[in-house]
Amino acid sequence: MLDTESSDQQIASGYKAWLSYRRLADQPGFESMAEQLSTISVFGSGGKEVLLKTAVAELQLGLQALLGKPILIIQEQEQMQGGIVLGQFHQDGSSGESFGTRYFNESSIKNAGSEGFAIVFSKSDNCLAIGAASPAGLLYGVFHLLRLIAAGETRVQDLNVAQAPANGLRMIDHWDNFDGSVERGYAGRSFLYENNRFLTTESDRMRDYARLLASIGINSLCINNVNVHHEETYFITPRCLPEIARIADILKDYGIKLFLSVNFAAPIELKELDTADPLDSRVADWWKRQTAVVYEAVPDFGGFLVKADSENRPGPFTYDRDHADGANMLADALRPFGGIVIWRCFVYNCKQDWRDRKTDRARAAYDHFQPLDGRFADNVALQIKNGPLDFQVREPVSPLFGGLEKTNQVLEFQIAQEYTGQQRHVCYLVPQWKEVLDFNTFAKGEQAPVKSIASGSFWGNKIGGIAAVSNTGRDGNWTGHLLAQANWYGFGRLAWNPELTAEEIAQEWTTLTFGHDEGVNALIIDMLMNSWRIYESYTAPLGIGWMVNPNHHYGPNVDGYEFSQWGTYHYSDHKGLGVDRTTATGTGYSAQYLGENASIYNSLEQCPDELLLFFHHVPYTHVLHSGKTVIQHIYDTHFHGAEEAGGLLAQWRTLKGRIEDGLYLQVESRLQEQAEHAKEWRDQINTYFHRKSGIPDAQGRRIY
Ligand code: GCU
Repeated sequence: MLDTESSDQQIASGYKAWLSYRRLADQPGFESMAEQLSTISVFGSGGKEVLLKTAVAELQLGLQALLGKPILIIQEQEQMQGGIVLGQFHQDGSSGESFGTRYFNESSIKNAGSEGFAIVFSKSDNCLAIGAASPAGLLYGVFHLLRLIAAGETRVQDLNVAQAPANGLRMIDHWDNFDGSVERGYAGRSFLYENNRFLTTESDRMRDYARLLASIGINSLCINNVNVHHEETYFITPRCLPEIARIADILKDYGIKLFLSVNFAAPIELKELDTADPLDSRVADWWKRQTAVVYEAVPDFGGFLVKADSENRPGPFTYDRDHADGANMLADALRPFGGIVIWRCFVYNCKQDWRDRKTDRARAAYDHFQPLDGRFADNVALQIKNGPLDFQVREPVSPLFGGLEKTNQVLEFQIAQEYTGQQRHVCYLVPQWKEVLDFNTFAKGEQAPVKSIASGSFWGNKIGGIAAVSNTGRDGNWTGHLLAQANWYGFGRLAWNPELTAEEIAQEWTTLTFGHDEGVNALIIDMLMNSWRIYESYTAPLGIGWMVNPNHHYGPNVDGYEFSQWGTYHYSDHKGLGVDRTTATGTGYSAQYLGENASIYNSLEQCPDELLLFFHHVPYTHVLHSGKTVIQHIYDTHFHGAEEAGGLLAQWRTLKGRIEDGLYLQVESRLQEQAEHAKEWRDQINTYFHRKSGIPDAQGRRIY
């Protein structure tokens, strides 16, 4: 039945992640719950649908592991009493004595929507019913039930939940290259490719991956890097499509649609045309034909993800066309098949001269895309990074959220910790993402948080959602740093329900990953919840960003970031530092915001401390709201942050012997590196600004 040995090993390596399903036993109420949940059956004649089969198999697998006993699947629904019953309902609750009317009230059915689920205990039938309008909803319902039970819920007789995802598109983007490397990958090489070959059918890893994704509600996956190199250009051709179709089949079993990043100049790259001009009918026809080829191989293909005219990628600008021309041409090719174009807004001029204080990379996305509002086809969505720059530890929210009224939008996060410790430092990003989601854009002068703009609910958009750059790779625990799994897990949970708090998500993740020792979990939650603040405190201060080594972006280097080779983007001299983005004397970026956001950021007095240097150039002696001068803030946070990084290691060491050695040791070694590396950060940043400002530390500490 269960291969417990290898299962235990997979738990101890971190491979099983939050689907460890550690056996429960001691919880109060366990016995009666275990007795209650002995069988699984499917209502009515269904059960042949692939997703329903997955749902039943997952439920059986999960319950067997959690309850430590065989769970029977009753094929024919001759016996309605007892156990768990799965079934589909109609949204309108119609069709007589159906599954829906038998178990669920109208509001549960309504709340489950088309993709969600409802779970309720029926006293009359003495069974737990999981219902949904779609087979995908049933799968999500199954994973929800398993999550509740694994987290310690035993009162199944009291269950009555109904929920639907807040976002239609819940997507993960891989930056994996066909040669097996991963751009910004910090968890080993790609598990999708090696040496221009597909690895995905050689092991169970792809299936295991799909399970993990579906269990947190992910429904879309882009499997190749947005920077599409020559070899990946062939992904949309018969050379690669048979293998891609096999990946799509595995994903389909888990309700996940496959997307591909495409090269805008593919017709040229593949030597089929001498132009990629989106308004040239030969180009449009080429994409129509090629898209049909893709759909023939992958009938439920999701669509194209496009990085164009960005960081040297080709795009419509070459032909004096704009982004709407480019995106709409691809959208036309995808429309007959129901596919969509996700067009990225990460577009900026790499070559900024620091002496020119009006050109500002932060302005670029808004300046490029806001004027095009209303011009994009209804099967195009613009994918917008959470901030105006590039996934820094601290940035304001991109003003494009609020600036676009007639355009489908998708919010983009980066789970991969490119600028936040590269999965060698712990940095739980969910609190940061929550701030972004809750940020009020003041669109229409109202309460208009990013979460409702991105989901599409605010403007009534057809497409909406959240995408994020993957942090997974071939490492045994998927993410390199075990604690980085919390970001992956948290992303999925937030995309499903942005109302969950960062603590709730941390609580869920620790219990599912480490088990039920409350002391252990409290400590890990505490570490996670402090980790972003700690990371920020010993790295780039007060919203200024970057300060990393060129190209690989790891480790401190105040002037290192490659695009500052035309000058210091932080504008520090002996008097002060920071970027003036105000309207009167600076780049005018602050005016891209709506309502009071614009005036708050524009004002030196009102701008929040944590973003001060993003918006203002100030003397080192400027006094923050905290009462400290800027230079003293830099010294204090860097001394304290490095100390706290050491504290994380000390905290973790108290867990020795209380969690599996395999899990303990892998985190311990990363935390050791973090503690050492944080000191290097402290010393480099403090020394740099000490030299520049000539101002000593008020506390007389030695600065190296
Ligand atoms: C960052 C990152 C690149 C990536 C780019 C993108 O600049 O460093 O590796 O290609 O973002 O989002 O396209």
